[in-house]
Amino acid sequence: MYVLGVESSCDETSVAVVKDGREVLSNVVLSQIDIHQAYGGVVPEIASREHVKGVSMVFDQAIRQAGLRYEDIGLVAVTNGPGLIGSLLIGVNAAKVVAMNYGIPLLGVHHIAGHIYANNLERPIEFPCLALVVSGGHTELDLMNGHFDFVKLGETQDDAVGEAYDKVGRVLELPYPGGPVVDKLSALGKDVYHFPRPMVDSPDYNFSFSGLKSHVINLHHNMTQRNETIVKEDFCRSFQDAVTDVLCQKTKRAAKEYGVKQVIVAGGVAANRGLRAKMAQTITDVPVYFPAMRYCTDNAAMIAAAGYFKYMKTGVADDLYLNGDSRLALN
Ligand code: KG4
Ligand code: ZN
Repeated sequence: MYVLGVESSCDETSVAVVKDGREVLSNVVLSQIDIHQAYGGVVPEIASREHVKGVSMVFDQAIRQAGLRYEDIGLVAVTNGPGLIGSLLIGVNAAKVVAMNYGIPLLGVHHIAGHIYANNLERPIEFPCLALVVSGGHTELDLMNGHFDFVKLGETQDDAVGEAYDKVGRVLELPYPGGPVVDKLSALGKDVYHFPRPMVDSPDYNFSFSGLKSHVINLHHNMTQRNETIVKEDFCRSFQDAVTDVLCQKTKRAAKEYGVKQVIVAGGVAANRGLRAKMAQTITDVPVYFPAMRYCTDNAAMIAAAGYFKYMKTGVADDLYLNGDSRLALN
């Protein structure tokens, strides 16, 4: 079955065609990063308008690159939340138009389920499995006992990891989004500041990153006032080491407690090279997998992949009243 995936929850307009949930035939991603860069972050109103401008072209390109016609599509899977409501609505409505015009079943997919299923594009997920989701909007540990069976073990109590990365990047006057740049500079620096590892020893699987972020920002502020030299590489490395220590230690403990067969990491921050290296060093008794770099950040191939497995499990599609939900829950 060919699934048409649609993603527009934040600042990427993306449409993909995936065969049988695993084989990507096309994955067109129109990024708005250059536009939002001038503002140091995503401006929701601008994001919605850019989705409107690009969405038809992205649909056409995805179908053409797959070498198919809309008549060949067996399911339209679209991110219906969570995310920016104005952005979500563009993708949801475009998906509805295609579904209605061609009489194709329509299915709403949770954005985080999409990130998790990016891993299934590389190799089939084996259950029970532990998913560490680290993106610009989410940081959580989910236990999966089967396809589309998510049990949240814990989540951030404040900032998401990607959000903290982007704020640290902004203080260091790095281009938006800060995450990838902080990662790159980290490789050239040392952990000289040894920032706190928030909640690393708490017995639950929750996280907190806003205190760490403030710690970094305050130190930067104080050093600037004292005219001290700021070595950005060392700031980045110290921040990244603190974040990745917490993520790796908590994931390791959860993997052991729940006796999982594998650990998968998902979301934009799964692209982080420091996290990839430390996970491999920390968790050695079960395999740890990451999606291919191009499927870590927002894309529609992951939504099509997730949509396929959701549809195979439930056999139930949504009707044309499907709506965007900015705070949609995973289960
Ligand atoms: O999953 P994603 O594309 O969008 C959301 O669903 O939020 O994640 C975007 C986030 C941004 O905060 C970005 O800075 C971060 O992922 N990110 C990274 C890296 N690449 C992207 N953070 C740290 N290291 C990276 N290499
Ligand atoms: Zn995302």
